[in-house]
Amino acid sequence: DRSTHEQWEDELQQLQLSLPKEEWFKAPLCFYQGFWCPTSIIYKEVSAFQNHFQATDTDLILASLPKTGTTWLKSLIYTIVNRKNLSEISQHILRSKNPHELVLHLEYKLYVNNQPDLTNIPSPRLFATHLPYSTIPKSIKTSKCRIVYICRNPLDNFISVCHFWALFDMNKGIKLDMDMIEEHMHKYCKGIFPHGPYDDHLLGYWKESIENPQKVLFLEYEGLKKEPHAHLKKLADFMGYPFSEEEEKENVVDEILELCSLKNLKEMEVNKSGKFYPWFGNNTLFRKGEVGDWTNYLTPSMAKGFDEIHEKLKNAGFSF
Ligand code: A3P
Repeated sequence: DRSTHEQWEDELQQLQLSLPKEEWFKAPLCFYQGFWCPTSIIYKEVSAFQNHFQATDTDLILASLPKTGTTWLKSLIYTIVNRKNLSEISQHILRSKNPHELVLHLEYKLYVNNQPDLTNIPSPRLFATHLPYSTIPKSIKTSKCRIVYICRNPLDNFISVCHFWALFDMNKGIKLDMDMIEEHMHKYCKGIFPHGPYDDHLLGYWKESIENPQKVLFLEYEGLKKEPHAHLKKLADFMGYPFSEEEEKENVVDEILELCSLKNLKEMEVNKSGKFYPWFGNNTLFRKGEVGDWTNYLTPSMAKGFDEIHEKLKNAGFSF
């Protein structure tokens, strides 16, 4: 009821006042539940998602840090599930909808204005989140729903994040120069960026994927780029939508990879001129998609700033 709701809002506002604060480009961040979260979404979206989302056994949740390959994975998992009409590739739905429209983000889209009714979505429901494993709703962990996590080398992730944030509507007019990169690199390496720290985010899902490989599939952007065919098959197997021998013979795997390639998606009109999220155009989601792009921006001595992150990953048994 209304009074309980108001009380809840008051409590959240109080909570927000007491949280540590930082800025990422021009966006305020709060340190909430062990991670840096954009302040604009903690108060309503994250809380509503955490308190109200009910996972079902057939759900698939894509989890990632921003700028690690989320859009790519969204296009792939959607196409894996809905590949019946692949013969009509020229009419494919990816031509009229950006991948983010097909696999909706829980805290950035679905829980933005109110509590959405998700009960009528046909299974498997495909959702995405940037929240770390420790903070996702319990029902995701206790149900049989599956999680696909995508990670990316922190140096390339950092450069991709910088380019993206410089294009954000609220940052219009700023130029991404070396000073700005250096300033934000110090923050990033301290974990201060949307949904950071990097190592905690990655390791949370990674540990779960080791303990429970049926539950969490852990993918690396670099691996997907290097061996896309094998990765797509692994992804489809994990999701319960394996490719048949016939499909293999008909090159369905390669067709999906081609359809969802950066080059192909970038050229689609919906991704050139469309705008799905209010804060940026669809075109900002597609840039270079290269492994090692960081070397074009950071000197080897700057890259040493990432040693601590690499060390933490290594100590936990994970390395790039
Ligand atoms: P770069 O900025 O390095 O080019 P996210 O989707 O999580 O926001 O990640 C964005 C990064 O993935 C960007 O990296 C973008 O170019 C890249 N990307 C987007 N679509 C892709 C695709 N279909 N294949 C490979 N990379 C893609």
